Amino acid sequence: MKFFIDTADVGEIREASELGLLDGVTTNPSLLSQQSGDPIEILREITKIVDGPVSAEVTATDHEGMVREGLALRKIAENIVVKVPMTLEGIKAIRSLSSENVPTNCTLIFSSAQALMAAKAGATFASPFVGRLDDISQDGMELIAQCVRIYDNYDFATEVLVASVRHPIHLQQAALMGAHVATMPAKVIGQLAKHPLTDIGLERFLADWEKVKNRN
Ligand code: G3P
Repeated sequence: MKFFIDTADVGEIREASELGLLDGVTTNPSLLSQQSGDPIEILREITKIVDGPVSAEVTATDHEGMVREGLALRKIAENIVVKVPMTLEGIKAIRSLSSENVPTNCTLIFSSAQALMAAKAGATFASPFVGRLDDISQDGMELIAQCVRIYDNYDFATEVLVASVRHPIHLQQAALMGAHVATMPAKVIGQLAKHPLTDIGLERFLADWEKVKNRN
């Protein structure tokens, strides 16, 4: 399973990449708006830190505009993936971009029918948002199970990119379901390694070792 970080904060990306487990980055207009400076320069810096795919989202809403913007974003670096919203115009844009071998990430997916359309259009990644579904009392993880099953049924090459991840249980369930990628905020990546019994166990090992050292 690939681990992506969901942020436009260069410091967080650098720190996560030092772990050696980071396979890519997802950004969106909201995440970029939280950073100061030119978004294009921020994206350029991110693409230099991480070798893997870096999603950069278009803000045009018509398909010609999305394609134009997508091609311009691709000029930033080879590892830019053009993120396109799940709309009918977005589907046309994904079709055009994928026919020119431009990798795409179809974002804002909230149903398996939308995920099916993204795959048929040739998206490289499809991003179902689990946390935002949970927020409205719908089961976000059920959508992931459906997407994985549908892509498997028809041998789609599109990868299920679990987005809007809020806690390690989302990640654990996504992995059990066979989702290809999860994009997580830095906080969740930090939480993955945590378990209270690990902390208690380590504390006890070190305390016992002190007794050995003080034997003589
Ligand atoms: O990048 C898209 C997605 O991961 C957003 O997550 O927490 O804003 O719902 P969130």
